[in-house]
Amino acid sequence: MTIKSATSSSATPPLRQFKDLPGPRPWPLVGNALQIKLSRMHQDIEDWAQQYGPIFKMHLGPTKVLVIADHQIETALLKDRPDSFRRPKQLVDTLEEMGLQSGLLTAEGQTWKDQRRMVMASLSANNVRSYFPSLLKVTKRLQGRWLNAVDTDTTIDLQADFMRFTVDAIAGLSFGSDINTLETDDDEIQRHLDKILPTLFKRVNALVPYWRIIKSPADRQLDRSVALVNESINGFIEKARARLDSDSARREQPQNLLESMLVAADKSDSGVNNNDVAGNVITMLLAGEETTATTLSWLIYLLKRNPEALKCAQQEVQSILAELDDDLDSLTPEKLNELKFIEACTLETLRLKPTGPFDVLVALEDTEVAGIAVPKGMWIWVVCRHDTLAEHYFPDPKAFKPQRWLKTEDNDLAQSRRVSMPFGSGPRICPGRYLAMLEIKLAMVMLLKNFDIESVDTPDGGEAKEIMSITMNPVGLTMKLQKRL
Ligand code: HEM
Repeated sequence: MTIKSATSSSATPPLRQFKDLPGPRPWPLVGNALQIKLSRMHQDIEDWAQQYGPIFKMHLGPTKVLVIADHQIETALLKDRPDSFRRPKQLVDTLEEMGLQSGLLTAEGQTWKDQRRMVMASLSANNVRSYFPSLLKVTKRLQGRWLNAVDTDTTIDLQADFMRFTVDAIAGLSFGSDINTLETDDDEIQRHLDKILPTLFKRVNALVPYWRIIKSPADRQLDRSVALVNESINGFIEKARARLDSDSARREQPQNLLESMLVAADKSDSGVNNNDVAGNVITMLLAGEETTATTLSWLIYLLKRNPEALKCAQQEVQSILAELDDDLDSLTPEKLNELKFIEACTLETLRLKPTGPFDVLVALEDTEVAGIAVPKGMWIWVVCRHDTLAEHYFPDPKAFKPQRWLKTEDNDLAQSRRVSMPFGSGPRICPGRYLAMLEIKLAMVMLLKNFDIESVDTPDGGEAKEIMSITMNPVGLTMKLQKRL
């Protein structure tokens, strides 16, 4: 697999041209856009990869899109950022048009490099350790909510409760103030944030920017929500600055993401300012909430359908807690790190149900991708769930087998990790992956210590359906719990 500048390939065979690639037949003007349903766009394109092979073409309106469903090519592309490929400009344009500051997810070039340094510092192992008490507090609130559900014989809406959990965890850390949607069932800022993600997904994928022609009541509500969110973030930044100014010890050991980012931004050569911090507060929320909540929902769904794996996970939790006298408060990030089976279950969940089943890149220069000429500006659609479901890489690929992620002589873990990349790869790999894993393990320890899972159901009793929003979510999962005796 090669990716190199088109000008350096004079001695090599002629490049294949986009027009010569296989692919679904485009319709006039709209191309293949109307052959894809937004809510299942990932599956439609995965199906085309089965039909046309791992490299094919499609047209989204006037945009030519090279589709790649091969992990080796994917890795090389992801590595070649930010210099040769970027995320589509539509993403940052749409965010900014909505009135939001952009952050790491949408930054490019030197701005990305400066912001990445700041965000990585705020998510360092040392800082994440100091966030641990507040994650534990939020986990206990989820426990209280579920104990109440058992006492009142209430069915739990899995995704909604995990969204509350991750919102409280990430928003608390990002804002540096206690956000409590788990106990109050409501939080004003979260209600406004909830409007932002679905609109972003719809607008980025819209063929016609209808909101510029006529604003619906929902569009006007969005404007109000964005204004309120921005105002709140500026308020949180001011308060965090005041805390840091009045307590110099806090600069050494910041207590939340916002304080860490401000400390990193204040370094003389940081290249970032208050606006970048504001943009990254919102970015943490957008990138860190739904991804983690969705992974937890899929994980529990898959565990309930695989009783052997569920039993192993329960035993692992029991044995770790036994060393701590069954006391959740004695947990530490290091202790959670010992939960290798639950980690394996999470990796297996992300293989089968990745929160981001595709990625989109744009070429910054004329180049070559796997022997195909790619002009500057061409879109490349990376299908992440293709090789991950191939028998060749993962025998019995559709089965949930966490054991494949355990360190054993039979498992080639390095190869498995090269093929399944749920957190991305290369310089832009997810900076929140350790924090996410910590949240997932905490939630699982709390669940498996206190409860037996009576049922996890789908609306129609069949397999859980996938719906693509900003992440790939399960539709309508509900859970019933019993207290563990
Ligand atoms: C299970 C949970 C999560 C999954 C599956 C996930 C997945 C991803 C993926 C696939 C990317 C793109 C990587 C690439 O382009 O190579 C990404 C980027 C990112 N994620 Fe996560 N993520 C998760 C949790 C989090 C959390 C908890 C945070 C923050 C607290 C976070 C913050 C970010 C940010 C800021 C980026 C952009 C990085 C950049 O462009 O440099 N994510 N994530």
